[in-house]
Amino acid sequence: MATASLKLDDKEYPLPVCNGTEGEKAVDIRKLRADSGYICYDQGYGNTGSCESAITFLDGEKGILRHRGYPIEQLAESSDFVETAYLIIYGELPNATKRKEFGQLLRKSAAIETQMQRIFEGFPKEAPPMAMLSSIVASLAAHYPHLASNNFEQDLANFDLSAAIAMSKIRTIGAMIYRYLSGQPYIFPKWDLPFCDNFLHMMFSEPYEEYVSAPEVARALNLVLLLHADHEQNCSTSTVRMVGSSAANLFTSLSAGICALSGPLHGGANVSVMQMLQSIHDEGDDGTRFIEAAKSGAKGNRLMGFGHAVYRNFDPRAKIIGKACGDVLKKLGINDPLLDIAIKLEGAALKDDYFLSRKLYPNVDFYSGIIMRALGIPVNMFTVIFAIGRTPGWIANWRELAANPKGRIYRPRQLYIGSVKRDYVPMAQRA
Ligand code: CMC
Repeated sequence: MATASLKLDDKEYPLPVCNGTEGEKAVDIRKLRADSGYICYDQGYGNTGSCESAITFLDGEKGILRHRGYPIEQLAESSDFVETAYLIIYGELPNATKRKEFGQLLRKSAAIETQMQRIFEGFPKEAPPMAMLSSIVASLAAHYPHLASNNFEQDLANFDLSAAIAMSKIRTIGAMIYRYLSGQPYIFPKWDLPFCDNFLHMMFSEPYEEYVSAPEVARALNLVLLLHADHEQNCSTSTVRMVGSSAANLFTSLSAGICALSGPLHGGANVSVMQMLQSIHDEGDDGTRFIEAAKSGAKGNRLMGFGHAVYRNFDPRAKIIGKACGDVLKKLGINDPLLDIAIKLEGAALKDDYFLSRKLYPNVDFYSGIIMRALGIPVNMFTVIFAIGRTPGWIANWRELAANPKGRIYRPRQLYIGSVKRDYVPMAQRA
């Protein structure tokens, strides 16, 4: 087997090399600190493999994304969100019986009990939806303590039910947040509706009028959720693993993932993209100002929906969603000027040396907002939709971590750059 070696202070340390099933290469530094006293400094963990995982394979240079070996393009073409969620969580595509059982468990788990509904009433009407979502999801651990024992063995024994509760209820909670913030009565889930239709029903039905989603609408929502279902060790998934590694239960770990997703550089980007497109539209600009500002390099001026922490090529999800966006709007007979602006902006950026030389391409969020807007989903709910979509990936990662007998608590080191030892100064002697 190949080994690497590291020379430090005239001493040589052999380091084992490991390979993933797709030929990925890694230097195993697990014993480095114990043997040499050195740690690896890798701000943002861009070169650090924090775990072994069999869920998702991603090659950012080639623009490849596969779940459990299946290319995202094939899943987007032939599968749906619930089936892909099953695949991601359990590792195989379900047969007809398993798919039916999974669907039934999701349906049974959809409702929010009266006691839990009261939590909503404590939030102000201007509450950010993601802040509400993370708090209410954290409260699942309080409502189902028998599924959230903070003991991996016990929590894994109940995993099928807690996974279904998480997936189904996060969707219901999302719809209820929308109803609560817009001052409308809650609409309860229906037993006979498929996952996405049920969400649309809970969002848009009225007590006096049933919302029946057009097949294109439910299909488009299915695609948006499916394309977000998992994405390797991204910021929110790593957060789920980080929290889970302390033996925290699934619901608590998911709540932490939702917090991580809410930031504008991660899941919040879909909101920022829409705000950017809207202000280009409102100002009658062609986007040149945004492109020029983005080239300043300032973090606050970035072209939202462009660039990715791991893709140095087209985000394969962006290709699928970019095409679907035009199709969905056409089928629904919607003419959205923001789509025209997005297409022009993409074209201009992809001709600009700043973006080309840095390999900055549109990511999944560049077009997902335009689809969600066409489905009638308000902008402040976009990141909640992302969270509903990403839940299977978080669940699968929590399960993989909890089931790993060799797992240990996540505890990175640091390079300390603060003051060296000094003595306490009494208040009277301080400047
Ligand atoms: N606009 C302008 N410049 C950019 C952008 C952008 N959107 N993204 C990166 N850059 C520049 C960056 O300033 C750096 O320039 P320089 O080499 O001159 O210092 C260079 O490109 C390389 O950046 P990087 O190291 O690849 O970027 P990163 O890994 O630190 O950040 C990112 C990745 C996604 C946070 C970043 O590209 C970004 O802020 N994009 C906009 C926000 C966005 O769309 N986020 C959604 C990501 S996809 C959904 C998800 O999975 O969360």
